[in-house]
Amino acid sequence: MNFLDLARRRQSDRGYTDRPVDRKAIERCLEAACLAPSACNSQPWFFVVVDEPQLRAQVASHCRDMVMNHFVDTAPVLVAVVAETPPLIPRLAGHVKDKQYHLMDIGIAAEHFCLQAAEEHLGTCIIGWFNEKGVKELLGIPKGKRVPLVISVGHPKDSTVRAKVRKELGEIFQYNGYARHGV
Ligand SMILES: Cc1cc2nc3c(=O)[nH]c(=O)nc-3n(C[C@H](O)[C@H](O)[C@H](O)COP(=O)(O)O)c2cc1C
Repeated sequence: MNFLDLARRRQSDRGYTDRPVDRKAIERCLEAACLAPSACNSQPWFFVVVDEPQLRAQVASHCRDMVMNHFVDTAPVLVAVVAETPPLIPRLAGHVKDKQYHLMDIGIAAEHFCLQAAEEHLGTCIIGWFNEKGVKELLGIPKGKRVPLVISVGHPKDSTVRAKVRKELGEIFQYNGYARHGV
């Protein structure tokens, strides 16, 4: 598949069948995540793959609330993405330039994971709205670490590729300058 087709096919799937996900496929997604670029090649990530049914159900219970993310109950796999402390140089660089490089790195790695999942015909959803404390406690992740994202993975219940809701290309770029003052 060419890259643009893959990027179009990747979508947030919010409902999965109960067909188990092959661990080999998950490991290919992790390999894709591992290939992501990161500031000073610091690779500040660790992935806790939860596919044991009881634990998965407990983690799911921390990823939904009254209004959000009820679909997680159907996901056979939940992956908690742990932010590892980057080495000194990228940490210092982040302070000097006032940029959270490690969060950018994690976002890119998460998307690599999801794109490989799309290639495998697996559905994913990146989840940022969840009870981080509860997830950390359940998975034995030390208090001092952050879990910016959880990724749900499964065989999508509905494999229709939806039309993307996106800004027009003309709205998001310009050559040689920024002329959106006052927008
Ligand atoms: C950092 C981040 C956090 C997100 N958190 C959630 C979430 O908690 N629940 C959810 O259903 N979708 C979540 N999403 C998915 C977005 O809603 C989705 O990517 C966006 O609407 C575009 O749709 P698409 O992924 O189908 O192209 C999140 C996406 C990102 C990148």
